[in-house]
Amino acid sequence: MQQINTKIQSLKPSATLAINQKVKELRSKGALITHFGFGQSPFPIHTSIVKELQSYAANNHYLPTEGLPELQAQIALFLEKYQQIEANKKFIYIGPGSKELLYQTILIFESTFLIPKGSWVSYLPQIKSKGGKYSILDTFLENDFKLTPEVLKSYCINHSNEQKALILNSPNNPTGAVYTNKELKELAAVCRDYSIVVLSDEIYSQINFSEESSPSIAQFYPEKTIVFGGLSKVFSAGGYRLGFMVLPADLQQYHTVYRSLFSETFSSVSSPVQYAAIEAFKMKDEIKAYVRDSSEILKGVSNYIYNEFTKIGIECTTPSGAFYMMVGFNKFQEKIRKLNIHTSEQLSSYFIETLNVALLPSSDFYFKDEELFFRLAFVDFDGEKVMKAFQKEREVTVRFIENYCPNIYRGVNQLKNFIDQL
Ligand SMILES: Cc1ncc(COP(=O)(O)O)c(C=O)c1O
Repeated sequence: MQQINTKIQSLKPSATLAINQKVKELRSKGALITHFGFGQSPFPIHTSIVKELQSYAANNHYLPTEGLPELQAQIALFLEKYQQIEANKKFIYIGPGSKELLYQTILIFESTFLIPKGSWVSYLPQIKSKGGKYSILDTFLENDFKLTPEVLKSYCINHSNEQKALILNSPNNPTGAVYTNKELKELAAVCRDYSIVVLSDEIYSQINFSEESSPSIAQFYPEKTIVFGGLSKVFSAGGYRLGFMVLPADLQQYHTVYRSLFSETFSSVSSPVQYAAIEAFKMKDEIKAYVRDSSEILKGVSNYIYNEFTKIGIECTTPSGAFYMMVGFNKFQEKIRKLNIHTSEQLSSYFIETLNVALLPSSDFYFKDEELFFRLAFVDFDGEKVMKAFQKEREVTVRFIENYCPNIYRGVNQLKNFIDQL
C-alpha cells in the first residue's frame, strides 16, 4: 500500500461521470435514454478550423509557454470586439483548457474562494485538492440563482480579514443565467470595496440567446478580474483542449509566477491546435454565422423545454445562454416523498431507472441534498443534422424538436407524464 495525498484521496468521482457511465451502460443494452446530464457542444467543429489544424499537423515545435504570440494577439482583438474587454496581449496565456488555467490560478492564490450556489462542479474539487479555503454563497431561484451584491457584501462584512477570490461564471453552468451589465456593475462595486480578485469564467460568452456576446465583470472591474475563455463551447472544440486567461493590471506582477508554474507543468499547448485556434478567434463571417445559428438552435430547444415545464409547475431558470437550465420539483415534494424519495440524488436515480431520463442532481452544484433541483443540459441531439435542418427552416418549432431532437422530445414527455401520474 502506498500513502497518497489525503486531500486528493478524498475527492470523489463526479456525478457527471457516474451518470455518463450509467447512460452508456443502458444504451449498450438498447435502452432509449434521454441524456440531459451531459454538457458537451452537440455541433460539429467548423471545417475552416479543422483545415487549419490539418495544415499544421507537421509542426512539431514546442511553442512559448505563454502561447503563440500571433494567437495571443488574435485573442486580444477577439476580446475587444466580442467581449468589450481591453486585454494586453502580453498577459494573455494559452493553456490546455480553461479548466487547467483555473486550477493553476486556484493553486497560486492563497484566498478564500467564494462560490455562488449554482456553480460548475469542478471548482470545489480543484480547491479541495490543494486544501484551500472556500465558502458557498447563497443564491435564489427568483433571480435565476445569480449572486447578488447584498449577499456578497454581507459575507465580506463578516469576513473582513480574509483575502478573497470570487469565482463568477456567466453564462452559467448549471443555470444558463447571464448576468446583466447592471448586476455586474453592482457586484464590481462590492469587489472593489473589499479588494476581491475575480475569476471570471466566460467560456460560454458567445452562447447567448439575445446578444452577440455576454457582458463581462471585467468591463466594470478591470483591475482585478482574471478572464477565462477558450475553444471548447463557442467553437465546439472541447477535445482540442485549448483555453486562455487574461491577467489584469493589478495582478500582472505575478506574470513570472504563472510562467514558471506553466513551464514546470504543461510546458505549452499543442502547436497545431494553437494555429487552428487563430482561425477560430478571427471570427470570420462564416464562423460568426455558425456561432449565431448554434445559439439560435439552443435558444429554441431551451424555450420549448421551459414552456412545456413551467405550464405544469416544474420550476425552471430562464433560458438565457450556455447549454443548461435548472429544473425544480420542489412543488411536488410531498407527493415525491411518498415514493420514499427525499434527495435530488435519489430522484435522479429514480428518473434514470424508471423514466430513462438522465438529469444531474443539484447537490453536485452546491445545493442542499433535499432541494429537488436538477441541471438539465439540452444538447442530446445530432448537432450536424439539426444545424442543417435549421439552416433550411430557420425556426425551432415543436414539430422541429419532435423530428430532429427526438431524445429531447421524449425526455420532456417522460417528465411531464411523471408529474401527471404523481
Ligand atoms: C463553467 C465551465 N468552466 C470551464 C469549463 C472547462 O472548459 P475547458 O474545456 O476550456 O477546460 C467548463 C466545461 O465544461 C465549464 O462548463
